[in-house]
Amino acid sequence: MQSQLHDGSDAAENGVMLVLGIETSCDETGVALYDERRGLLAHDLYSQVALHEGYGGVVPELASRDHVRKLVPLVEGLLAAADLSPADLGGVAYTAGPGLVGALLVGVAFGRSFAWGLGIPAIGVHHMEGHLLAPMLEDQRPEFPFIALLVSGGHSMLVKVEGVGRYRILGDTLDDAAGEAFDKTAKLLGLGYPGGPALARLAEHGDPVRFRLPRPMTDRPGLDFSFSGLKTAVVTTWSASDGTEQDRADLARAFEEAVADTLVIKCRRALRETDLKAVVVAGGVGANQRLRSRLRDLVDELGAQVYFPRPDFCTDNGAMIAYAGCLRLLAGQHEPLVIQARARWTLESLSPV
Ligand code: KG4
Ligand code: ZN
Repeated sequence: MQSQLHDGSDAAENGVMLVLGIETSCDETGVALYDERRGLLAHDLYSQVALHEGYGGVVPELASRDHVRKLVPLVEGLLAAADLSPADLGGVAYTAGPGLVGALLVGVAFGRSFAWGLGIPAIGVHHMEGHLLAPMLEDQRPEFPFIALLVSGGHSMLVKVEGVGRYRILGDTLDDAAGEAFDKTAKLLGLGYPGGPALARLAEHGDPVRFRLPRPMTDRPGLDFSFSGLKTAVVTTWSASDGTEQDRADLARAFEEAVADTLVIKCRRALRETDLKAVVVAGGVGANQRLRSRLRDLVDELGAQVYFPRPDFCTDNGAMIAYAGCLRLLAGQHEPLVIQARARWTLESLSPV
């Protein structure tokens, strides 16, 4: 029955000019309009932070319901702000995974159906591909090939990027992701959710050398990460301290130093092993200023380059999805008339563009 319905794929052959991007993989509803020739036209984001704050983390069912409430008004507002109508769209791109499956399904079901109703092609975008291509939205864009350090709430990865969809994972986390470690440590120190930005603010007042935490897995070869031991070291140090405000700030600083050092050590190794000269940093932890400044020092020393998305595009957003989707739609790729969200999805399985 479904196969008789027109999936809008013919429209791709006429060239996709303007793409609506939708991001609903976790706790942010992000929308954006990316134009093939004019670039990013508009973007908007509704953050559910206040909704989940009291629970100390994202509650998946609440996240899905809130995406349902916010997505359509956000898309309407975005089109109105850009003085455009749905008829101007050439394609729709939505995050199809990885992420919370209920949250993903909101964006996937809306995006796929909206495209079908308009008779235009649709494309499901890999969330981490969105993140790693986000620096392409800046004036200072990296050129392929490069190393991508993807550090978010769900991932810590080093990827060799040879082109769009040509990804080789060089290192991955064996347990917690870097952002998850930030969030858990922040919770332990009695800070709010999301923990990363709160911990980074507190670390500003901390002594960088009073506590020394481990740099996990840096004393052995390889590019994998492990952050759960670091969390345990924080627990032990915190319980042995007097629990004063200064102890809290010093420990936050020690934690931030340990994560930044660990990530920089692995980036140095990845650049050396691949003989590449460019590193792209993306994902929520990429907004961390201490990590950014350490990476700048590293590339200065190596005569290499580092590229960051603007801080708003380090965390989840619709712009990166609109951009990645636009590249794939322009290459003639599109989704059949199915509604498919994937909680797990490896970057290495993507088709090249
Ligand atoms: O990429 P993202 O928005 O969502 C996921 O795909 O996971 O990343 C969110 C993660 C959270 O763990 C948050 O605490 C962390 O990024 N984060 C930060 C900072 N801003 C966000 N971690 C450290 N320093 C920051 N400034
Ligand atoms: Zn993300």
